[in-house]
Amino acid sequence: MKKSLTNPIFKIISAVAEEQKVTAFVVGGFVRDFLLNRVSDDPDIDIVVVGNGIEIARKVVKAIKKNIKLSIFKNFGTAMFQYEDFEIEFVGARKESYRRNSRKPIVENGTIEDDQKRRDFTINAMAISLNKDSYGEFIDPFNGKKDLKKKVIRTPLEPDKTFSDDPLRMLRAIRFATQLNFTIVPETLDSITKNSERIKIVSKERILTELNKIILADKPSKGFKLLEQTGLLSYIFPDLEKLKGVETIDGKQHKDNFYHTIKVLDNISKKTENLWLRWAAILHDIAKPQTKKFIPGQGWTFHAHDFIGSRMVPRIFRELKLPLNDKMKYVQKLVLLHLRPISVAQEGVTDSAIRRLLFDAGDDIEDLMTLSEADITSKNEQKIRSYLENFQKVRQKLKEIEEKDAVKNFQPPVSGEEIMKAFNIMPSKEIGIIKNAIKEAILEGIIGNSFEEAYEFMLIKGREIGLKTSEKPKIVRQKSEIQNRKAKGKKE
Ligand code: CTP
Repeated sequence: MKKSLTNPIFKIISAVAEEQKVTAFVVGGFVRDFLLNRVSDDPDIDIVVVGNGIEIARKVVKAIKKNIKLSIFKNFGTAMFQYEDFEIEFVGARKESYRRNSRKPIVENGTIEDDQKRRDFTINAMAISLNKDSYGEFIDPFNGKKDLKKKVIRTPLEPDKTFSDDPLRMLRAIRFATQLNFTIVPETLDSITKNSERIKIVSKERILTELNKIILADKPSKGFKLLEQTGLLSYIFPDLEKLKGVETIDGKQHKDNFYHTIKVLDNISKKTENLWLRWAAILHDIAKPQTKKFIPGQGWTFHAHDFIGSRMVPRIFRELKLPLNDKMKYVQKLVLLHLRPISVAQEGVTDSAIRRLLFDAGDDIEDLMTLSEADITSKNEQKIRSYLENFQKVRQKLKEIEEKDAVKNFQPPVSGEEIMKAFNIMPSKEIGIIKNAIKEAILEGIIGNSFEEAYEFMLIKGREIGLKTSEKPKIVRQKSEIQNRKAKGKKE
């Protein structure tokens, strides 16, 4: 395994360990990802020292002879620093369970094998020696390498024990199975189902980290199916669980919205790495259970699920500890608008419908189109083809209209001040009325999106609602000019 140790940091650690007469090993994700030939998103290197991990980390930082900041977490017995692209974390080998976020202080020191058996999965419990006489030697007491080959997730100890040490590991098992497309062995999976309720004691922040990693996988539906199947979903994300199930009345059945949603999530994951767009896919139909109604003669309806769903987003974000910022607003907006491209495609691609869509979606129009396209999960090939063709038309028209009318980032072409000046009025509701009328006229295509046409329209609209101005709209001006000319002609 020497070829895994190309990074110069390993030689430095090895020399320090030798000098301090302790043994040190690389463990966990680094070893796993090396064997998988996998580039991790957050590369870190975990070093286990049979001895005092913090002490060795201090000495290693000194030996690097660069200005490196060492962060020490006394309670966890860990220390870490940034070295090039890597976060290097040191910990003393321990007899008790490894828990990065545990608040319990570490008491008992152990051997490397003690340490390995208290880790989460066999594929994460492999180590490589950094010691002079065994440098590069592979230490794999639980056959992690074999499990990597077999593509399975298995706990090193009896699973109930491993999961009771840290119930978050149940979610981690599903996360790794999803990311790596591995299978969780039956014994481990049964234990997750049995212990699922224990996830309640884990902090929401830690749960969210794993959930987001599942969502960012190539095929997230795998993870969501496992979450549902093991019972974890009902504890960590009950709103999504509620989408499950079908009902039949008068021989009419609606689709299972849980499976539909995770299919949409898979579809969108082929098109984007944007976590928030993926969240929009997860939440697009979230209000279907609340809005479900059977109307005789019509069938199942989910009236206003787009609107009600977007109103549910802030509560869900708060409960899951997602950020309550512009990302949330973006998800809300996409949930609210998710049906619009489909209805535009179905009801005819008119210029004004396209202008309204551009106006409402703004810069997020592309993402909205991506979401809407992913929402087509029909099994009928013919139907899918016709939808996609219509979407092509919508996209084409969006381009044309935006080039012509520039309504995507609509700015009122006439300002409030200009309206006040033209009619010599103070701030009042009339300004809002006129501004809105101008916007509507542009979106409907009555006038173009330019200052001249909007100003003209303002003069007409103002008069209509009883405002007075000395300026005359062009049409009126033209008329009076003709009259003037006529009068002049008579005189002459
Ligand atoms: N670990 C564990 N139990 C946990 C968390 C972590 O046993 N609840 C151990 C595993 O051996 C894991 C190592 O700590 O490999 C490092 O954890 P972490 O950095 O969270 O995960 P990685 O395996 O490095 O994977 P990734 O980088 O994809 O998160």
